Amino acid sequence: MKRLLALTAAAFISLPLSPALAHDGAPGAPGAGDPYFPDQGNGGYDAGHYDLSLDYDPSSARLIGVAGITARATQALSRFNLDLVSTLAVRSVTVDGRPAAFTQSGSELVVTPARSLPSGRGFSVVVRYDGKATHVIDPDGSLDGWIKTSDGVFNANEPQGAMTWYPGNHHMTDKATYRFTVTVPSTRVAVANGDLVAKWSQGERTTSVWDSHEPMASYLATVSIGKFEFADARIGGYRVTTAVDPKLAGDAKGFPERHPPVLDYFSSVFGPYPFSSTGGIVDHAPEVGYALETQTRPIYPRVPSESLLAHELAHQWFGNSVTPTLWRDIWLNEGFATYAEWLWVDKLGTRTVQASFDAAYATAAEDDFWQSPPADPGGPENLFHDPVYDRGAMTLHMLRREVGDAAFFAILRAWASDYKYGNADTAAFIALSERVSGKQLDALFEAWLFKPGKPAL
Ligand code: TRP
Ligand code: ZN
Repeated sequence: MKRLLALTAAAFISLPLSPALAHDGAPGAPGAGDPYFPDQGNGGYDAGHYDLSLDYDPSSARLIGVAGITARATQALSRFNLDLVSTLAVRSVTVDGRPAAFTQSGSELVVTPARSLPSGRGFSVVVRYDGKATHVIDPDGSLDGWIKTSDGVFNANEPQGAMTWYPGNHHMTDKATYRFTVTVPSTRVAVANGDLVAKWSQGERTTSVWDSHEPMASYLATVSIGKFEFADARIGGYRVTTAVDPKLAGDAKGFPERHPPVLDYFSSVFGPYPFSSTGGIVDHAPEVGYALETQTRPIYPRVPSESLLAHELAHQWFGNSVTPTLWRDIWLNEGFATYAEWLWVDKLGTRTVQASFDAAYATAAEDDFWQSPPADPGGPENLFHDPVYDRGAMTLHMLRREVGDAAFFAILRAWASDYKYGNADTAAFIALSERVSGKQLDALFEAWLFKPGKPAL
């Protein structure tokens, strides 16, 4: 699903099309045009739904996958790409049920259907693949994707891990719905996004089926596997599905019950919770340095503090429902989720928002922290560095002080509702802020988002 026009590679537009080529279509672009990850995503089609069947054996790390993808051609296509690491071997590909030719190189799976696809045509692809699954290392050095643990998989995919376990259009501008059918040894539990809809055992293996019917970007998908204490219950009006590593069960007491109060508070501030279920995955993974806001059900490498829980739940509105258009705009996720932490600990009475702002602003003007403006982090190695989070949150606080509480919270609610399940960029946020507040705000955003150096108060 594409709510915003994805970037088309200019090269393909300017190619002179011979009549024969125009008739047969042209290759879809191998990337979505994001400068931070040029190969990520693909052009020429729009994915609508992924039906993923995954069979995993934690002792050998062997993954067997069947990916059914329904999509629509956005140009006449002679061939198209999917993103999948080539350490997973593709065994066959069909398009609309007919065998298609394919090649794998790097993280590109290139599919040539028996017949080219006319622009606007809906089509379905089935990819059968298998191999020893593993993670990739990001430009900032962090582990990303199918991250093995002692008893299964910690599956976190921001920004580029999705290609380590299923083929797809993996840029965040192409959201889709999902169904996951996951088979693991019965000694393990598999947890994915959305709602558990079926579960059965056969011999020593257990299959669970998960429906994720709200649109989702690839980097927010998860299929996490391990020895887990599993719970799935209605609490305070929410379906709360949790999986907790038994090693952490002591600290995780009451973990499901901690979700509704945070979600109720954020609903009152940001507007209705956008998904049909919630919960979290707590998996002992000391080698993973971060948590991730996986859609409906964040994944944590340890039991989260109140502020981390609030951070990942706030991302359900800001990041997951409303998603950036380019990785460069990541402050729209992290600055907002950090500001939401400040709101939640203020609500709890632990620390006021102003005190959180003051603590961040106290960073000395000479510190490197101020050299990187949040809306221009400079490259993929800086996606998750402190200015994106803390100076991003400070920007929102400055906006609040400038426009007043009523306009500020109206802006946050309009951001969540106008772009629900879609994508939007920094320019759209600035335009919305000016429209709702009726104020000229370019100087404020210029100083806080775009210019290096510590802004004056
Ligand atoms: N988005 C995550 C959060 O703030 C953080 C994150 C995802 C991350 N991937 C990362 C941090 C890689 C460091 C490295 O909750
Ligand atoms: Zn975050």
